Amino acid sequence: MTRAEDLLSEDALRAALPMGHRFGSVLEMHPVVGSTSDIARALAQAGAPEGTTVVADAQNAGRGRQGRSWFSPPERNLYLSVVLRPPLAPPQAPILTFATAVALADAVREVGFLEPALKWPNDLLLAGRKAAGILTEMSATEHVVDWVVVGIGINVNLAEDEIPRELAEQATSLRIEAGHSVSRPVLFGTLLTGLERQVRRCYAEGAAPILQSWRRCSATLGREVQIDENGTRVEGRAVDLDERGALLVETAHGIVRVIAGDVRHRA
Ligand code: BTN
Repeated sequence: MTRAEDLLSEDALRAALPMGHRFGSVLEMHPVVGSTSDIARALAQAGAPEGTTVVADAQNAGRGRQGRSWFSPPERNLYLSVVLRPPLAPPQAPILTFATAVALADAVREVGFLEPALKWPNDLLLAGRKAAGILTEMSATEHVVDWVVVGIGINVNLAEDEIPRELAEQATSLRIEAGHSVSRPVLFGTLLTGLERQVRRCYAEGAAPILQSWRRCSATLGREVQIDENGTRVEGRAVDLDERGALLVETAHGIVRVIAGDVRHRA
């Protein structure tokens, strides 16, 4: 791959999307931002339509889950946020994170020729290390979701020695695992096309088919896990997802349903 093939520009991103594709038809591409999700939120609040997409080459305030930061250097990775306007009730909205994770795994498999696994709820792992993450944010009233922003960060062409020391044990990139660079515009086009397909499938068919696809890629189900959330620890075997994507853990005291938290795989 030449450097030109990996250059992120609005033209390159648009060229990577098929004709008539709705997601990405409203597209912002920035060289550097604080966080693409902050921009997408502001656009959503101002009435931006479903599929509005914000991409950046670098972020200087990239946000991860649980208040963590997201390492977002220039010229290597993909950082994008997509506005959704789901016809779902607020308790159903978490399925969109699973739909995004399924689209992400499909894109990494197709473009990188890799075999990704999904760690509950939304980390993409390659050879046991994290290569991508999803941050889902939402605005809703009691009965109606106004907007959801899914933010996706993918370590695409980071080299091993470009990963900060404190992340080195748990982070990797597509390039490290594939042994070759991957074109970011091509990955973007494949991901956004798949995301539109999965989101439509979710609206038309409900959560069950998405969760079934997620289970097929799962790195978590069947494993011994330890989950910490708000000072509470759950330990046991991850046995399944419920109909909304909560993790069902078989513990010494029976099945515990976990709706959020950081999972550690133990065996
Ligand atoms: C995680 O903690 O695993 C979620 C990481 C999400 C990072 C992406 S990068 C694009 C978007 N903008 C952000 O500030 N965060 C998300």
